[in-house]
Amino acid sequence: MAAGIDDIAIYIPRLYIDAADFAKARGLDPVKLQKGLGVSQMAIVDANQDPAILAANACLKIMQKNKLSPEDIGRLYVSTESSFDESKAMNSFVIGMLEQVYGQGAFEHCGGVETKFACVSGSYALYDNTNWIRAGEAEGKHALVVVSDIAKYDMGSSGEMTQGAGAMVMLLNDKPRLLAFDPRVTSTSIKDEYDFYRPFGKETPIVHGQYSNMLYMIQVRKALEAYKKKVISSKLINIEPGETILDHMDYINMHLPYSNMGKKALAYLVRHEWRQLPRWKKILQEIGIEEPIPKDPRGTIESVLGDEEFMAKDHEFTKLFTKTPEYQEVYESKLASSLIASSMIGNLYTASLYLGFRSSLEFEYQKGIKLEGKRVGFGSYGSGSSAMVFSGVIQPEYEEIVKNMNLEAEIGDRRKLTWEEYEELHENKLSPEDSMLHSKKEFILVDVNKETESKGERRYIYNE
Ligand code: HMG
Repeated sequence: MAAGIDDIAIYIPRLYIDAADFAKARGLDPVKLQKGLGVSQMAIVDANQDPAILAANACLKIMQKNKLSPEDIGRLYVSTESSFDESKAMNSFVIGMLEQVYGQGAFEHCGGVETKFACVSGSYALYDNTNWIRAGEAEGKHALVVVSDIAKYDMGSSGEMTQGAGAMVMLLNDKPRLLAFDPRVTSTSIKDEYDFYRPFGKETPIVHGQYSNMLYMIQVRKALEAYKKKVISSKLINIEPGETILDHMDYINMHLPYSNMGKKALAYLVRHEWRQLPRWKKILQEIGIEEPIPKDPRGTIESVLGDEEFMAKDHEFTKLFTKTPEYQEVYESKLASSLIASSMIGNLYTASLYLGFRSSLEFEYQKGIKLEGKRVGFGSYGSGSSAMVFSGVIQPEYEEIVKNMNLEAEIGDRRKLTWEEYEELHENKLSPEDSMLHSKKEFILVDVNKETESKGERRYIYNE
C-alpha cells in the first residue's frame, strides 16, 4: 500500500532578528553569518507564543486548506525538543486548542503522542505513522505529524547565531499527492553522545558545536551505508558499477541547523561516496592537492578536531572539491533550492529537514522543472544522537499542492526586531499580554498558571 505526504503547512512566527543587526550587536563580521553559516534572518517567537501554539496554528491551516473535519484525522503526533512539560504530551495541548475551533471532544477518537529525539524525532514519527497507514490500521483516516520547535541558545554563545522557530505539519495518507515513501529502505544509526543536549529545567542546550558538526556527518553517513544495503537487498534501485546511491537521488534534503550545514554534509557524503569510484581520479586531478589523512585515522572525533594541521588541510581540500564542476552540478541540482527557506528562517530543529523539503519543492517548481517521479533522499539527524536516511518519490498530483506554495506569503508580513526587543524576548522579560504583534485568526497564549495547585497550566485562546 502506498503511504506518504499528501500536503504540508507551515507556521512561522512573524518576528525576526536580522543577521546584520545580530552581527553588529555581537561584534561579529556579518559575512560570517550570511556566507559562513548561510543565516540571513532568524524567526523569533512573540511573548504570547510557545511551541504548542506554533503546532496548533500549522494544524489549523492544513485542516482548513483541505476542508478536513476532525473525523478525518486518526492520529495527531507532535515531535519537538522544546517541550515545556515532562508528562503532558504536546499533542494534547494542540488538540485542546483545535477543539476551541472544532468543538469540545471533536478529536476524542484521535490517538497520538509527543516524540523526542532532538531533531530526528519527527522522522521517526513520520515513519511510524506511515507504517500505521501501510498496516491498514488507518481505516481511511489521515495522520497529522507536526514538527514544532523553538531553537534558542544562550546569549553570547556561538549557537546563538543559529536560532529560529516554527512548525510544519505533514498530512499523511494512502493516496499521497506529494510524496510516497519508498518501502523497506528506511535506515537508522544511533549512539549515546553528548554533542548537544538540554538537561531538565534548562531552557537552552549545552552544545559542543564543532563536535556536533562532525558527529552529524558521521552518523548520517552510517545511516546512508545501511540505506544502501537495504536498497540493494529490496531491489528498489539497481546501482551499476561506477555509480553511487546518490546518483539515484534526484533531490537530497539534509537536516539544516543552519543552511550551510546542508552544504557541509552534502560535500562530506559525496566525497565519501565518490572516493570509491573511478571518477575520483579525475576529481583529484582537478583539485590538484592530495586528500589529507588525520595523524590518527582511527582516532576519536576529539583527536581529529584536535589535529590542527589535518583540519586546516581538510578545510582547504573540501573548499577545492566543492568548486569542481562535477560537485557543483550535484549541489545546484540536488540541494541548493532546499537551503533558501532555512536562510530566511533559521533552525527549526525537528522541522528543519522538512522546511528544506518544502523549500526544494517550491523553488524547483519555480524553475519550471517537472517533479513527477523524482526520487527525494532525506538525511535526518538528531543530536544525542541518531540519524535516519530514507527516500520517497514525488507523485503525479504534486502540482495541485506545489503550484500554490509561496513561502513569503505563507509567513505573512514580518517584523524586524530591534536589538533591545530581541533581548527582552530572549530573556523572557515579557508576559503574554505584552506581545509585540496582535495577530488575528491564530491561537495565542493567554496565561501560564503560577499557583502551586495548578502550576504550569496553560490557557490558550483562538484570537478571532
Ligand atoms: P563557530 O565555531 O563560531 O563558527 O560556530 P565557525 O568558526 O565554524 O565558522 C562558521 C563558518 O563561517 C565556517 O565555514 C567559517 O570558515 C566561516 P566552514 O569552514 O564551515 O565552511 N567564517 C566566515 N566566513 C566569511 N567571513 C568571515 C567568517 N568567519 C567564519 N568573517 C557552530 C558555528 C555551528 C559550531 C555554532 O553556531 C553552534 O554551535 N551552533 C549550534 C550547534 C549546531 O548547529 N550544530 C550543527 C550540527 S548538530 C545538529 O545539527 C543538531 C541540532 O540541530 C540539534 C538537534 O539535533 O536537536 C543542533
